[in-house]
Amino acid sequence: MDTYRQIVRPILFKLDPETAHSLAKSALRWKRPWSALGPGDAVAHPKLGLDLAGIKLENPVGLAAGFDKDSEMLAAFSSLGFGYTIPGSVRPKAAGDLPSPKLHRYPDRQSMINSQGMPSKGAHYVSRRLEEFRRLDRTTRVITNITGWTIEEYLQALAAVEPRSDGIEISLSCPNETYDETVDFLTPTRFRSLVERLNERRRKPLFVKIRNYNSDEEKDNRFELIQLCLQLGVDGVTLPGSHIAAEPRLAPGRGNLSGKAVFGKTLQNVQDVYRATGGRLPIKALGGVFTARDAFEAIAAGASAVELLTGLVYEGWSVAQQINRGLLELMSSHGIANVVELRGRSTLELERAPTTRAASAVAH
Ligand SMILES: Cc1cc2nc3c(=O)[nH]c(=O)nc-3n(C[C@H](O)[C@H](O)[C@H](O)COP(=O)(O)O)c2cc1C
Repeated sequence: MDTYRQIVRPILFKLDPETAHSLAKSALRWKRPWSALGPGDAVAHPKLGLDLAGIKLENPVGLAAGFDKDSEMLAAFSSLGFGYTIPGSVRPKAAGDLPSPKLHRYPDRQSMINSQGMPSKGAHYVSRRLEEFRRLDRTTRVITNITGWTIEEYLQALAAVEPRSDGIEISLSCPNETYDETVDFLTPTRFRSLVERLNERRRKPLFVKIRNYNSDEEKDNRFELIQLCLQLGVDGVTLPGSHIAAEPRLAPGRGNLSGKAVFGKTLQNVQDVYRATGGRLPIKALGGVFTARDAFEAIAAGASAVELLTGLVYEGWSVAQQINRGLLELMSSHGIANVVELRGRSTLELERAPTTRAASAVAH
C-alpha cells in the first residue's frame, strides 16, 4: 500500500496548502523516523551514478531549491534516497515572508502555484546547519542555492555557505518578487559582472538557475545568458519549466506555476539548450518531474540530472526511491547501460528522424 498517496496526502490536501506545507516541513526536520525508513538499494546502483560538473552523485535525483530553504532537513532527504539536495534560496541576511495567501494547489492538474518569494534565516544560520550535516558524513551532495539584490549580497552568501557545500547554485532573483527584469540579474551586462565577481572568489562548481521565458524576447535573453555561461566557465545550468501565471487567489494575483502542468515546457527547454550548447553544459532539469518516466525523458532530452519540489508534494517521501528504481528498469528495457549513456539520446534520435519519439516527447 502507498501510505502517502492513500492516507497522508488526502489528509494534507484537506488542509489549507500553507498549513500542510508547514506540517510536512516540521515532520521532515526530524532525523530518526526517516533514517529508520532507509533509502533502499536502488538509489546507490552504479548505473545511476554520475559526475555532475565534478560533483560525484550516487544518483541523478535532487530536491529542488525552495522546500528546505534554511537547510534544516538535509538528513531526512539524504535518508529518503535523493542523490543531492538544494537548500535555499539563501540570502546573506535574514529576510521575512511575503503576504498570504501565497500557495495554491491544482489537484486535477497535479500542479501548484506559489508567491512565496525568498524568505531566509540568513547565510550564517544555514552555514551552521550545513556544518551539522557534514558531521553525519552522508553521501548525498549539497548544492546550496544563494540569491541577492546586489553583487555584494551574493558574495556574502557565497563566503558563508560555500565552504560547507559541494557546489553553489545562483537564482537570478525571484520570479515572484520582481516582475521587472531590468532590476535583476537577467540583464546580460549585470549577469556578466555577477558571474565574473563570483568566479574570482569561488572554489566549487557553479550552477546558474535560469528563469523560464514567456515571450520570444525573453527566450532570446535566456539563450544569451546561456552563451555567457559557456564563455565565463559556469559549470552547469538549472532549467525550470515553471513560469509566472495569473492566480487571483494568491495575494499578489499571480505566482510561479509548477508541477505536471509545466513538464512539457521543461522537456522543450532542456532539449533546446542541449542542442544549442552541443551538450557541453551540464543541465539540471526541473518542473513537473514526478515519475521515473519523466526523469527518463528529461535525461534523454539532454539533462544530466533532474530535481523536483511539487513531485514531493504529490508523490510523497518515496518519490526519489521510486524514480531511481524505475530508471533502472527503463534503462534495462531500452538496452541503455547507465544514466550517462542515456543523456541526450532523444535529441540524437530527433536529428536522425525529425518526426519520431523526441518530437512527441516535447509535445507531452
Ligand atoms: C513553495 C515553493 C517555493 C520555492 N522557492 C524557491 C526558492 O526559494 N528558490 C528557487 O530558486 N526556487 C524556488 N522554487 C522553485 C522550484 O525550485 C522549482 O523551480 C519549481 O517549483 C519547478 O519545479 P517543480 O515542478 O518540481 O516544483 C519554489 C517553488 C515552490 C513550489
